[in-house]
Amino acid sequence: MKIVVIGGTGLIGSKLVNKVREQGHEAAAAAPNTGVNTITGEGLAEVLKGASVVVDVSNSPSWDDAAVLKFFETSTRNLLSYEATAGVGHHVALSVVGTDQLSESGYFRAKIAQEKLIKASSIPYTIVRATQFFEFLKGLADISMVGDKVHLPPVLFQPMAADDVATAVGRIAVGPPVDNTVEIGGPEQFRLDELVRRRLAILKDNREVIADPKALYSGAKVSDRTLLPGDNARLGETRFETWLTQSAGTARAA
Ligand SMILES: NC(=O)c1ccc[n+]([C@@H]2O[C@H](COP(=O)([O-])OP(=O)(O)OC[C@H]3O[C@@H](n4cnc5c(N)ncnc54)[C@H](OP(=O)(O)O)[C@@H]3O)[C@@H](O)[C@H]2O)c1
Repeated sequence: MKIVVIGGTGLIGSKLVNKVREQGHEAAAAAPNTGVNTITGEGLAEVLKGASVVVDVSNSPSWDDAAVLKFFETSTRNLLSYEATAGVGHHVALSVVGTDQLSESGYFRAKIAQEKLIKASSIPYTIVRATQFFEFLKGLADISMVGDKVHLPPVLFQPMAADDVATAVGRIAVGPPVDNTVEIGGPEQFRLDELVRRRLAILKDNREVIADPKALYSGAKVSDRTLLPGDNARLGETRFETWLTQSAGTARAA
């Protein structure tokens, strides 16, 4: 089976391409630096030739409200249209747990738009909503700055390792489309501010993390359970402490 991974050079995409190949399938890593651009359409028809499944794990280069909305709308429209022409039988897209409750955020309005386009198209699909990646904890601090301090709401979340995300998405990609949304998450719950504080300390990043009940998550108000997956979520195995002992956890840049 040929599987095209859009964003196949990114954090999740590069792991996914390897996992799909290990299972004996053909995987094409599609991204601008492999000659495939979902915004311009460059290389799309060629890479989709003979493909059964497309997995979209791309992300917008800019998270500015207007830019990210334009990215996910344009990219998703183009992909679905080229997939229809190529006869692709399953569109898998990676989204985020709680997306529908986060419409105050420009980034999440873009993910909502992406999900809507997929649901409205004729291509059978599976939307996979994942919780926050351990690899994104420093990024969470970066997008939560008020002055020189990190302000985060002390709400629950259930983050997971990027490797477990790629494993779960890989399994879903080789299975039948469910024409629905499935959730994946990590094995443990934490408070958002606590885990980001721990991560920054490990990275010797001396920014102060403030538990601020009024702070926004990516521009949106969240309640205690907004970021938690539901009871039917498939949970990854990697615990935070285990991830830390692996190379990804100790790398300064992660
Ligand atoms: N961060 C989190 O905690 C989290 C949680 C749940 C879900 N997600 C979702 O996971 C997805 C993937 O995230 P990630 O961190 O793996 O992303 P990433 O590492 O930033 O990778 C993004 C990929 O998209 C590609 N891309 C950018 N513009 C493109 C274009 N015009 N055409 C084709 N490909 C393009 C990039 O290619 P180049 O490298 O060539 O630019 C790269 O391969 C996102 O959709 C995000 O919403 C994230």
